[in-house]
Amino acid sequence: MGTNLAGPDGGAAADLVIEPMRRDEIAVLGQWAAAEGWNPGHNDIEIAWDIDPDAFIALRQGDRLIGGGTIISYAGLHGFMGLFIVHTDFRGGGLGTQLWHRRRDLLLKRLQPGASIGMDGVFAMVPFYERGGFTLAYRDLRYEGVAHGVADPEVVPLSDVPFAQLDSFDRRHVAAPRSAFLQRWVEQQGAHTAALTGPDGALIGYGVARPCVRGYKIGPLFADTEQVAERLLDTLCAHIAGEFVQVDVPEVNRSGVAMAQRRGLTESFGCARMYLGTDPGLPTDRIFGVTSFEFG
Ligand SMILES: CC(C)(COP(=O)(O)OP(=O)(O)OC[C@H]1O[C@@H](n2cnc3c(N)ncnc32)[C@H](O)[C@@H]1OP(=O)(O)O)[C@@H](O)C(=O)NCCC(=O)NCCS
Repeated sequence: MGTNLAGPDGGAAADLVIEPMRRDEIAVLGQWAAAEGWNPGHNDIEIAWDIDPDAFIALRQGDRLIGGGTIISYAGLHGFMGLFIVHTDFRGGGLGTQLWHRRRDLLLKRLQPGASIGMDGVFAMVPFYERGGFTLAYRDLRYEGVAHGVADPEVVPLSDVPFAQLDSFDRRHVAAPRSAFLQRWVEQQGAHTAALTGPDGALIGYGVARPCVRGYKIGPLFADTEQVAERLLDTLCAHIAGEFVQVDVPEVNRSGVAMAQRRGLTESFGCARMYLGTDPGLPTDRIFGVTSFEFG
C-alpha cells in the first residue's frame, strides 16, 4: 500500500507515503479528533481497531504521522469512511485530497462488488465528497445539553437481553451486520445501556450512552416508536443526570428532533450522511441516535 505522493508543490515527495496505521499511532488520531471538537468516545478508536485494524490508514512524512482516516469494512458488505484528518501544519496543499481518494479506493477493494460506502461529512465539504462520487442522503444533527430524566422501571440494561436478540434487532437499523462491533460497543467500559421489550418479549428498542472526552454521547438509540425512544432516552439520561450529553439525530426523523428539543438539548453541529453506491435505505424513522459519525 505504501505509495509515494505528490508534495504540496505538485512535485514528487519521496518522503510522503500512505500506509497502514500502526497500533501506536491510533491514539494520535483520537487526539486530533478531540482537537477538532468532535468529542470522541473514550473507547471508540480502540474498539474500531480491535474489530478492523486494517481500517486505519496513515499519511506519513518519513516516520511522522501527518494525516489519517478509517475505512471500516462491515463483513465486506458495507464500508464506512471516518476520522479524515490532516495535521494543521500540512493542510491546504492537496495532501488530504490524495489521502481521501486513496482511502476510498482501498475501501472499495476491501468490499464485495456493488457494496456501498457511507460517511458523515462536515457540511462545508459536501461538494468535495460529491466530486468523489458520494451522494447526500440526509443530514444528521447533533443536539447537546445537560442530561436529566426519570428512569423507567420497565427499561432494563442490555446485559439482560440475549446478544443474539440484540444483534438481530440491530441489523434492521444498519447497512450490514456488525456483530463484533456491536458486542464491543455495548460492553465498553463506562457505558450505560437501556433496552425495552414488548409484551411478546421481542426487543422494541435499545440505547447506549458512552463516556466521551466531554460528558456522554447517546448512540445508537434505535426504537420502534417515538414513545419507546423517549423512555430509553429518559432512562439513559437519568443514569447520567447532570452530565453533558450529545445525541446525533437524522434530521428526517422529525419526532427524534422534536424529542431532543423538548429535553432542552440544542443543535450544535451536524454532518451530511452520504453514500457511494446504493443508498442502503436505513429506517430513519426508527433511528433516534446515530451510533457514531466516525463508524456509521
Ligand atoms: C479535511 C482535511 C483532511 C483536508 O486536508 P487538506 O490536506 O487540507 O486537503 P486538500 O488541501 O487536499 O483540500 C481538500 C479539500 O478540503 C476541503 N476543505 C478543507 N478545509 C475546508 C474548510 N474549512 N471548509 C471547506 N472545505 C474545506 C476543500 O473542499 C478541499 O477541496 P478543494 O481543493 O476541491 O476545494 C483537513 O482540512 C482537515 O483535517 N480538516 C479538519 C478535519 C475535518 O474537517 N475533516 C473532514 C471531516 S468530514
